[in-house]
Amino acid sequence: MYNISVVGATGAVGQEMLHMLELRNFPVNKIYPFASSRSKGKKVLFKDKEYEIIELTKENVKKYSKDIHLVLFSAGASVSKEFAPIFAEENIFVVDNSSAWRMQPEIPLVVPEVNPHTLSKDKKIIANPNCSTIQMVVVLAPIHKVAKIKRIVVSTYQSVSGAGGKAMIELFEETKKVLSQLEKEKTLMSHNIKSFVIEKTQPFVLPKQIAFNLIPQIDIFLQNLYTKEEMKMVNETRKILEDENIKISAQCVRVPVFRSHSESVWIETEKKISVDETKDILSSLKSVKIIDDPFNTDPNLRYPTPIDASQQQITYVGRIREDLSCDNGLVFWIVSDNLLKGAALNAVEILEEMLKRDII
Ligand SMILES: NC(=O)c1ccc[n+]([C@@H]2O[C@H](COP(=O)([O-])OP(=O)(O)OC[C@H]3O[C@@H](n4cnc5c(N)ncnc54)[C@H](OP(=O)(O)O)[C@@H]3O)[C@@H](O)[C@H]2O)c1
Repeated sequence: MYNISVVGATGAVGQEMLHMLELRNFPVNKIYPFASSRSKGKKVLFKDKEYEIIELTKENVKKYSKDIHLVLFSAGASVSKEFAPIFAEENIFVVDNSSAWRMQPEIPLVVPEVNPHTLSKDKKIIANPNCSTIQMVVVLAPIHKVAKIKRIVVSTYQSVSGAGGKAMIELFEETKKVLSQLEKEKTLMSHNIKSFVIEKTQPFVLPKQIAFNLIPQIDIFLQNLYTKEEMKMVNETRKILEDENIKISAQCVRVPVFRSHSESVWIETEKKISVDETKDILSSLKSVKIIDDPFNTDPNLRYPTPIDASQQQITYVGRIREDLSCDNGLVFWIVSDNLLKGAALNAVEILEEMLKRDII
């Protein structure tokens, strides 16, 4: 049995980490939940037991680390950079959910179904990839093995929970505000199409209003005019698939959805692979489910949507078809819960894999 610390235990991902540890019956003896001074006095629940939040300070880490076996970090990159090495120096394994360590060559960047062999006893810090990267590589890795992917073009439709709990509240509050304004003007009652004018609201967390809108910016812009999120997809995918030659281009968009990211993915392969062969490969995967029956009379069986994937531990794929614009091309629609497979579930699965391999 392990004593496990969750750093960022009050956050959107941290709460799901606790939930996944409990739901998947990971052998937990005791929880040490860390957060910032803002959460002083707050408590989290694990297996019907309340645990008081511990403020993340160097003194507290020193004080409690003797009794901690494993740490799940989900409190942002700067917190990870400062505190993960302190745990690692005490010989404690750290699975970090931020971008702090992902691209360091010596740090394993792990999706257990894809590259579990990169885990080892001497690598104390393990990076959990970006949410949009995880769901894409889970589907593409087995295809890469068989047909060798040369090029990937991806557009994402990312939910607000990807930007944390406060962004979920922002979508909720903005939506309420816009709807109450429309209702006041009796727009909905009169169905006067011309008066469906949305007044802009003032965003606090996301760069622009998200209610009834889309934002083609996730994270900051870089010199090459891509965003940091887009370049995470490029660099992390190459590292996980262990192939620096794959050409990748991404466009990441925030959408007014609470949970689950969706992705349109176009791939070009070296070897021709048919839609049926692709479906055979994907249907053999435990963590992937194909929903792809466009002419089914039941809309639930035609393709997956973010609501279908919400709170599910599975990555869904649909709309599989040949790309009309090139010879060996395929198109996919991939949907997964960003807080689960995109973050908390993948982190817990890393621990499970380490247990299986006798690393912990
Ligand atoms: N959301 C996703 O889908 C997703 C997916 C993959 C990776 N990630 C990454 O996971 C991390 C957390 O994301 P989130 O969505 O859970 O964010 P969140 O809802 O904003 O939660 C942030 C958590 O970090 C804690 N925290 C912040 N500053 C801290 C500090 N100085 N010391 C100690 N604790 C601190 C917060 O504690 P307080 O409550 O005390 O402020 C809170 O528990 C980020 O690095 C994010 O990039 C998120």
